[in-house]
Amino acid sequence: MNIILLGPPGAGKGTQASLLERERGMVQLSTGDMLRAAVNAETPVGVKAKAVMERGELVSDEIVAGIISERLDADDVKRGFILDGFPRTEKQAQMLEEMLAKKGMTLDHVIELKVDEQALVERVEGRFTCANCGEGYHDKHKLPSVEGKCDICGGEVFKRRPDDNAETVRTRLQEYRAKTAPILPFYEGKDMVSRVDGMASMEEVHSSIVEVLGS
Ligand code: AP5
Ligand code: ZN
Repeated sequence: MNIILLGPPGAGKGTQASLLERERGMVQLSTGDMLRAAVNAETPVGVKAKAVMERGELVSDEIVAGIISERLDADDVKRGFILDGFPRTEKQAQMLEEMLAKKGMTLDHVIELKVDEQALVERVEGRFTCANCGEGYHDKHKLPSVEGKCDICGGEVFKRRPDDNAETVRTRLQEYRAKTAPILPFYEGKDMVSRVDGMASMEEVHSSIVEVLGS
């Protein structure tokens, strides 16, 4: 089963992709995570992407499509993959079609997480992750059970993303409205889109997604 999770910044794409990865053995393919790894490693792609990401704008279609295409050649994606943050423009949707056709792969579902934009800034501003294992937390919605200790790995160092401030989130939202939301009609035309209420609790959102995917 291969799916796309679509939604604005803070909609819960990463949260839901991790849950599916953990519970169904699917592979999360997050272009945001891949780009952040490239920025940290100071690779040529990372050097180009850093300032663009910090402004909340979109990195070039060619760069992200290249990263995804390479990742789709790995063996583990045969277990089923979740595209989280890709495609994000009409051009990327087209590029994805072409690369999947070439690799003999297909998409089963596009799931749009519907959220109230007012809630997004608060969600994104309160977010932090474990620096060791990447588990996601939130100041209000999901604190570690023991203060200062990651529930998953026991790590004690946490980090926040440089683009998770109110001003950059607003730019990211504008980019979503202008460039990403317009790709939905393309998938609606293929009858692949299911809408899920992203304002429900994380567990409820997960159940709704599982219902769409079937057993
Ligand atoms: P990316 O990393 O993809 O960021 P994004 O799309 O802005 O999405 P986020 O990671 O902010 O949010 P999310 O939907 O994953 O929410 P999360 O689950 O963390 O991209 C970053 C940048 O990289 C882009 O701006 C761009 O520059 C570049 N880029 C990436 N892909 C690209 C592409 N294809 N083309 C061009 N450029 C690209 O949840 C958020 C918070 O809310 C968390 O704290 C979580 O705990 C909490 N939360 C989640 N669900 C719930 C819930 N149901 N109830 C309460 N709280 C919840
Ligand atoms: Zn951890």
